[in-house]
Amino acid sequence: MKPKITFFFILVCSIVISSQANEQGFISAVISEKGLDFIKELLVTKAISSLTPLQLPQIERIVKIPLVGNLRVVFSNITIYEINVSSSYVKPGETGIAIIASGTTCNLSMNWYYSYSTWFSPVEISDKGRASVQVEGMEVGLTLGLENQGGTLKLTLFECGCYVKDISIRLDGGASWFYQGIVDAFEEKIGAAVEHGITKKLTEGIIKLDSLLQALPKEVPVYDDAALNVTFVNDPFVNNSSISLEIDGLLTKARKAIYLNYHHKQLQPLVSCSDSPKMLGISLDEAVFNSASSLYFDADFMHLIVDELPEQSLLNTAGWRFIIPQLYRKYPNDNLNLNISLSSPPVIKISENKIDGTIYADLIIDVLESNQVIPVICISLEIQGSGLVKISENNLVGSVKLNDFTMTLKWSKVGNLRMFLIQPIMWTIIQTVFLPYANSHLGKGFPLPIVRGFTLQNAEIICSTSVITVCSDVIYEESLNLAKLLFFSR
Ligand SMILES: *[C@@H]1O[C@H](CO)[C@@H](O)[C@H](O)[C@H]1NC(C)=O
Ligand SMILES: *[C@@H]1O[C@H](CO)[C@@H](O)[C@H](O)[C@H]1NC(C)=O
Ligand SMILES: *[C@@H]1O[C@H](CO)[C@@H](O)[C@H](O)[C@H]1NC(C)=O
Ligand SMILES: *[C@@H]1O[C@H](CO)[C@@H](O)[C@H](O)[C@H]1NC(C)=O
Ligand SMILES: *[C@@H]1O[C@H](CO)[C@@H](O)[C@H](O)[C@H]1NC(C)=O
Ligand SMILES: *[C@@H]1O[C@H](CO)[C@@H](O)[C@H](O)[C@H]1NC(C)=O
Ligand SMILES: *[C@@H]1O[C@H](CO)[C@@H](O)[C@H](O)[C@H]1NC(C)=O
Repeated sequence: MKPKITFFFILVCSIVISSQANEQGFISAVISEKGLDFIKELLVTKAISSLTPLQLPQIERIVKIPLVGNLRVVFSNITIYEINVSSSYVKPGETGIAIIASGTTCNLSMNWYYSYSTWFSPVEISDKGRASVQVEGMEVGLTLGLENQGGTLKLTLFECGCYVKDISIRLDGGASWFYQGIVDAFEEKIGAAVEHGITKKLTEGIIKLDSLLQALPKEVPVYDDAALNVTFVNDPFVNNSSISLEIDGLLTKARKAIYLNYHHKQLQPLVSCSDSPKMLGISLDEAVFNSASSLYFDADFMHLIVDELPEQSLLNTAGWRFIIPQLYRKYPNDNLNLNISLSSPPVIKISENKIDGTIYADLIIDVLESNQVIPVICISLEIQGSGLVKISENNLVGSVKLNDFTMTLKWSKVGNLRMFLIQPIMWTIIQTVFLPYANSHLGKGFPLPIVRGFTLQNAEIICSTSVITVCSDVIYEESLNLAKLLFFSR
């Protein structure tokens, strides 16, 4: 067989330095060497094996034999049954990523048929049978480009090739001692058909994979009618150990305000999970959380009327008799409720190993008197809390714990108050009513932008200046059958 250029299994992601310099992603993700290896393994084992059974076009040839005449040989129903990849590896480089698979084997079966007629005998002589073919040491290769095209990832196939090193054909039936010679002469043609067939199928597969990337949603629903903008910004960054991607990462409705505030900010360094060798790193800028917070504020989300308390006596003016005597005097034995609402969006600050939150709320004491709600006192609260985050499935789930709070009297219809007497009551209300309410919402979690079918596993969370980084391995949900879903469904 004549020497051929060996194509390796090369995935090259071209980096096009784009002019979208004003764009900034607030969530970035890095797929590490370990992660690329995982994806490679998934593609190689699932996608390559899903190529089969692969039907190849029939091969027909007329051989002129001196003194004998024309010999017509046909191989039909050529089918590749099984492809095994013995070793493969992924190698990202400055110009892209290489995945090299070698020692690939496959077997195929086919029908053979031949006929000839001679000048001296008008009777056509023919025979037919089946043959099996074993292909050894095959190499398959692709060269791909990956770029950001209008907010989605575009996968381009630059080159795709397959190289058959060794082929052996065994005929069943017929006078094989005679035909083996002819068949051997066809080795190269069969090899070429295998190379062409696999190349064609892989090309189709890449087009399919690209259309799946194009079809990835640009928004992920987060509560009610809010959505996380998962539009890709900037081009993927590839070096010799990882691929980095950036997405917008803000909640769509709150985008404008946040974007203006953060626009001139220094770009964050790319995600680093170097201390923990995980497959994937996702960094979320604090702007992401502040966009959620301002969205909730705009949506009048944190709005709470309290008519039940662990200390129920506080919901009657009698319970306040010694604390705010003038309230009791003015509205003796009337029931109360508390109206707590946010007065400005909560502010989230992420720093080295901690998350701080400040919640600004107004608490209004309403007197309920003969079907009337009379607001009598308004107290402004500034609650300092510290946040805890953890991973639950693919969500970042938060909770907040009270550190401290300050309170001021905003207005009062019952004169001045002795605030130091109210302090412990406020503390109780914040601890027993307000924070549990806030935590029940934070507990719903914030969805991390993970492609469907993949689930985080053994995640670690690292807080650094203004960034939360999730370093995690991922597992793939077998039941979704990537091969069928992503690649070569027929
Ligand atoms: C083609 O091959 C398959 C499997 O080897 C066989 O079942 C089928 O009968 C063959 N078709 C023809 C027309 O020979
Ligand atoms: C693929 O690998 C399996 C298990 O190692 C082996 O049984 C089978 O014969 C191989 N098939 C081919 C086509 O090499
Ligand atoms: C191909 O190899 C597999 C596994 O070894 C075997 O089951 C199958 O019969 C083989 N097919 C042909 C056509 O040799
Ligand atoms: C590759 O890029 C990642 C993130 O962009 C970085 O953490 C890593 O140090 C880089 N590796 C090399 C060898 O330059
Ligand atoms: C990546 O490149 C750096 C410097 O060019 C080199 O030191 C490092 O070993 C390379 N890493 C891999 C995984 O090839
Ligand atoms: C989503 O983010 C992209 C890139 O930052 C931006 O161009 C687009 O307007 C955003 N979409 C919405 C609905 O805010
Ligand atoms: C609660 O207080 C806010 C102002 O802080 C007010 O807009 C709202 O109407 C009040 N709700 C009730 C039910 O009194």
